[in-house]
Amino acid sequence: MTKPRIAVILGTTRPSRWGHVPADWIKSRIEADGRLDADILDIADYDLPMFDEMASNKWMPSQNPNAVKWQEDLAKYDGYVFVVAEYNHSISGALKNALDQAFLEWNHKPAAMVGYGGVGAARAVEHLRLIAVELSMVNVAPAVHIGGGDFIKVHPLGGDPKPLSEIEASIGASADAMIGELAWWAGLLKDARAEKQKAAA
Ligand SMILES: Cc1cc2nc3c(=O)[nH]c(=O)nc-3n(C[C@H](O)[C@H](O)[C@H](O)COP(=O)(O)O)c2cc1C
Repeated sequence: MTKPRIAVILGTTRPSRWGHVPADWIKSRIEADGRLDADILDIADYDLPMFDEMASNKWMPSQNPNAVKWQEDLAKYDGYVFVVAEYNHSISGALKNALDQAFLEWNHKPAAMVGYGGVGAARAVEHLRLIAVELSMVNVAPAVHIGGGDFIKVHPLGGDPKPLSEIEASIGASADAMIGELAWWAGLLKDARAEKQKAAA
């Protein structure tokens, strides 16, 4: 049986972003675990417009070729890890727009989250969980929150950023818990989607 494929979605797009650091870290933790395959999907690579379709692709196919490419790439995956920055107590505008630019591709797949910020992006992660429900995703309960002293230790805002390996003892257990639940849901839902497709054929 092929392993479920996971997209680690880099949820910020500004040139000076820090989000690639936790994205690379969680990808390597998933690879070390071995139950899932993982790629990074960078929203910035897609040059998505601000949502300008007649409707979401729940109702009609999208027209913008960049949005269609984003949907096609999302469709290749069995689950997602969102790497979530907190922008004014919510997710970034870029991530919200990227979520809106697909619908069917998110359905019946697990959504896991790695948050970073003063309080580990807890508020942004909770917002994202509500959005995930509307997208018919399954929320993975354990999440990684890089916050407080850990955040200051590894983030440029602290003035002397250390590599994430320096806080591994603090955040590693939550990453393991998250990956464990993600692997369970990704496998289960992959089979269930295949069954549903077979029944419909
Ligand atoms: C517009 C903006 C709003 C922010 N709001 C918050 C916030 O509400 N809470 C927080 O902990 N950090 C906040 N920050 C700091 C971010 O946690 C920090 O800049 C982080 O690196 C942003 O992710 P990025 O580097 O991947 O863009 C904010 C940063 C920006 C640019």
